Parts: sequence; C-alpha cells; structure tokens
Amino acid sequence: MTKHKDIASIRTDFLKHHIDLSKLNENPLLQMKEWIDDAIRLEHEEPTAMSLSTVDKSGKPHSRIVLLKGMDGSGLQFYTNYESAKGRQMSEHAHVALLFFWSGLERQLRVEGVVTKLSEKVSDAYFASRPRESQIGAWASPQSQPLKSLVSLEARFNDYAQKFEGRDIPRPLHWGGYNVMPDYFEFWQGRPGRLHQRVAFTRDNEKWNREILAP
Ligand SMILES: Cc1cc2nc3c(=O)[nH]c(=O)nc-3n(C[C@H](O)[C@H](O)[C@H](O)COP(=O)(O)O)c2cc1C
Repeated sequence: MTKHKDIASIRTDFLKHHIDLSKLNENPLLQMKEWIDDAIRLEHEEPTAMSLSTVDKSGKPHSRIVLLKGMDGSGLQFYTNYESAKGRQMSEHAHVALLFFWSGLERQLRVEGVVTKLSEKVSDAYFASRPRESQIGAWASPQSQPLKSLVSLEARFNDYAQKFEGRDIPRPLHWGGYNVMPDYFEFWQGRPGRLHQRVAFTRDNEKWNREILAP
C-alpha cells in the first residue's frame, strides 16, 4: 500500500480550552452535562452522537454511533432495536464503552458502564415522541439482518405505513431504550504541545474518585 503522506502530516495544535481542576464538578455526570451543553451551544454537528462499543460472546469488540437521548442520576440513555447485533451483544455482555469527540471544543469524553433495558413505560413514551416515519422504520427494519435488496425494505416500510394508516403507531416490542450506569468517565482536553489534560473518575460505590492521567 502506498504511504499516505497527507494523512500522516495532519496535526492540530489544541489551544482553545483548558480544564480548571478547581472548577470541575465532583459529580462526573454533571460535568458531562456541562460539556454536552457546551457542544450544543457551539452548534457542534451531532453534539449527542456517541460511539457505542459492545463485546460479543467470543470477546470481539464492535463499535457504532448512536444518539444520546437522555441523562439523569441513573445514567445515560439511548434507543435501538433489541434484536440488532448490538442488542444481542449487550444481552450477552452488559459492559459497554461510550465515546464522544467534539472536534470544535478539542474534547474527548470516554464513559464506561453497565447497560440495563429501560422500562417499557419509558420506551413507550420516547417512541411516541418520535416522528411517524421513524416509528414506521422501527417496525419495518429488521436491524442488522441481511436484506435481499433496498427495494424489499421500502416495500416493508410501505406495508407498515398502510397497516398503521390513520392511527397511532404502537412501539414494537423489539425496539426500546437502554440505560448505561457509568462506572468510569474520562474527560480529555486538547492542549498545546501535546500536553493534553486527562481527568478520570472511577466509581467506588456511591463515591467518585478522581485522578489525573498522563496524556
Ligand atoms: C449520527 C448517527 C446516529 C445514529 N443513531 C442511532 C441510534 O440512536 N440508534 C440506533 O439503533 N442506531 C443509530 N445509528 C445507526 C448505528 O450506527 C448502526 O448502524 C445501527 O444501529 C446497527 O448497528 P448494529 O448492527 O451494530 O446493531 C446512528 C448512526 C449515525 C451515523
């Protein structure tokens, strides 16, 4: 393979922000909320997009993007198809890793934790708030399954659109939310001269222990 000179020479000097340890929230969930709010305020594209890594039965990791749809004292929430590849992996292995990268803020946030399914009531409420097309899509798409063709998916979509015409669309039982109860956070702030700041929080029962890591 030819060496890609341009990629190897891409290098950014990070200058914009720094972490003031005395101002960092002792609760990493609240600190995360501040960073998400910064990303939203700065109109970062897809500020809530996060990579979700899961592990399958054989120990192989798999990553993909999902959208954070809520956060509160119990953790971080997202929605998907329970029978998708990720859904199957999380039923076999409940530990997951999440990753945000906000390039405009020169920030990375790592979160690790354990997933549980959200209650049916919470999933129903979120499903009901989604646009109708997304609701039909949740019925029509057998997420992660091989498809004969794109046309076959469109046909399924049209069938469900017809089936539900003129009435509210119920949540399919194979679709719903997960809560990630975090046990690790790492806030990374890019700094000049590669002296980036890394602040890690590890959960010890109800308490969070904080340490600074070498970049
Ligand atoms: C910006 C963006 C947001 C996405 N949000 C979601 C989401 O919230 N839920 C979801 O199931 N898939 C979402 N996807 C699609 C997933 O990345 C993935 O393709 C899909 O969930 C199937 O993954 P799996 O086969 O590993 O289960 C998103 C993709 C992108 C690029």
